[in-house]
Amino acid sequence: MPKVIFQHSDGARTEVEGSIGDTLMHAATGHGVPEIEAECGGFCNCATCHVYIDAQWSTKLPPMSQHEDELLDGTVAERLPTSRLSCQIELTEELDGIIVTTPNRQT
Ligand code: FES
Repeated sequence: MPKVIFQHSDGARTEVEGSIGDTLMHAATGHGVPEIEAECGGFCNCATCHVYIDAQWSTKLPPMSQHEDELLDGTVAERLPTSRLSCQIELTEELDGIIVTTPNRQT
């Protein structure tokens, strides 16, 4: 079970156990991480699951689709080079320990 560390904008951290094949978004919503709203339920249509992935994990992530890239241009919180939509990242053993920072707001 890959561990995911959510770093909140107020500096607090939440560690959760995710499931292989589940998404980073579901690991957040299933454990009550409040900053991940995920209004569209993971269909890559809302951008309210925006997160910042710790740079050391960037090479282990799946590539970004053009649609995800376009949605990230419309996020409420500033888009950074480390921005991703958490519903588009599937958890693997390789991502065990991933550190994800949540933006201070999604809408
Ligand atoms: S949950 Fe809507 S884009 Fe990720």
